[in-house]
Amino acid sequence: MKKISLVLMIAAASTLMAADGAEIFKAKCFSCHGEKAAKSALNKSQIIAGWDAAKTIASVTGYKNGEGGPMKGVMKPIASGLTDDDLKAVAATIASYK
Ligand code: HEC
Repeated sequence: MKKISLVLMIAAASTLMAADGAEIFKAKCFSCHGEKAAKSALNKSQIIAGWDAAKTIASVTGYKNGEGGPMKGVMKPIASGLTDDDLKAVAATIASYK
């Protein structure tokens, strides 16, 4: 019984780490969207710093489904690589960048 709860705890902890918005932003978004999302990605995107989490989630979900602007091909593989939890976490982080 003890062993099982330990395994569950480890699983829970690694899930939490996987959905750390700031880490996800640094690893997957920072290179294009810049420090605190304050840059226009590849000089093409809007500046997404401070975007409402719901707006970011809708936009990134759109890229997953093949929607978006002229450079949507850049965002599609990135969007597809995010789980729903990752997206929620990173959207909350972006909303906090003002
Ligand atoms: C390789 C560069 C690159 C990376 C990495 C990247 N983006 Fe983007 N992003 C872009 C480009 C280019 C656009 C504009 C695409 C278009 O034309 O619709 C964009 C657009 C967006 C938009 C919509 C803004 C708009 O102009 O409508 C959101 C939201 C967004 N990205 C979020 C993210 C998030 C969240 C991550 C990390 C998980 C991320 N991006 C990683 C290049 C990137």
